[in-house]
Amino acid sequence: MLLGDFLREGVSRLASLYPAPEARNILHILYGERLGTDRYTHVTEPLYTIPAESLSALSSDLDRLASGEPVQYVIGFEEFCGRRFKVSPDVLIPRPETEILCAEAIRLGSELSAKRLSQCDDTPVRVLDLCTGSGCIAWTLALDIPGSEVYGVDISEKALAVASSQSFSSSDGRSDRSSPVFLPADLLSDPPAFPCDKFDLILANPPYITESQKVEMRPNVTRYEPALALFVPDDDPLLFYRAIAKWALILLSVGGTGIVEINESMGTGTQAVFQDFGFRKVEVMDDFYGKNRFVKFS
Ligand SMILES: C[S@@+](CC[C@H](N)C(=O)[O-])C[C@H]1O[C@@H](n2cnc3c(N)ncnc32)[C@H](O)[C@@H]1O
Repeated sequence: MLLGDFLREGVSRLASLYPAPEARNILHILYGERLGTDRYTHVTEPLYTIPAESLSALSSDLDRLASGEPVQYVIGFEEFCGRRFKVSPDVLIPRPETEILCAEAIRLGSELSAKRLSQCDDTPVRVLDLCTGSGCIAWTLALDIPGSEVYGVDISEKALAVASSQSFSSSDGRSDRSSPVFLPADLLSDPPAFPCDKFDLILANPPYITESQKVEMRPNVTRYEPALALFVPDDDPLLFYRAIAKWALILLSVGGTGIVEINESMGTGTQAVFQDFGFRKVEVMDDFYGKNRFVKFS
């Protein structure tokens, strides 16, 4: 089968799920991964034929996509902050906006690390990632903040197994000391004992979509991504932020910073949670689309 024909057939089978440009993009990701071809191979090599040994696997991949399964679960990974993270239906697929949270945390953590180094202080920059899921935030900070010590917690043992299974090479910044430590914990209970008392950075991307917003979401999200990672009750949508503020009062070091991802429609309400818990500097930050997406507190 010609690659161009596979692409045409794929776009038509995905038509009820995705607009054509998005379907094309998904198929490019799929066959780029399976065949090693690039985005325009079907144009630059119109006679490119899918090798017979790859065709049946690609057809079953297309069946999975046509049933609504996200392409990231089909190929088993998602790119995040320039690295490949393994994903399975036990974890949320990392989203591009969460990279903004990481960029800000890396900036703050790297400044602190450089300051300590200039003072001959070898105390690591300690980072706590609450609701770690795939571990994308925890690993990114562990690999990108020099000399950091990172802990990631989640209530889901299955998510923690995925987070612990991530593997990176030295070209990704991996060294023997850079792996985060992943621990089970329920954010809605008291914090467990950590080997260190305080953290310089506390980060979280907790569940924040209300049950009533579920109807606006695409079936590929609601049917395949873990509900535990996504939804909060309509009558108490900010419960995780109160829990994060409670943990941060205990665990954030003096001069430390917290950054949380938030529901775009609840910027002011989430800001008020941290103000009510006594944090003095509480700021709402936007994402790429100008939507309220993060709260930074210290
Ligand atoms: C929105 S996902 C974030 C995953 C990852 N940090 C990211 O940014 O892609 C939220 C995570 O919170 C976890 N979670 C849900 N309830 C929790 C609780 N009570 N305590 C700790 N983690 C919880 C879920 O298992 C899920 O992995």
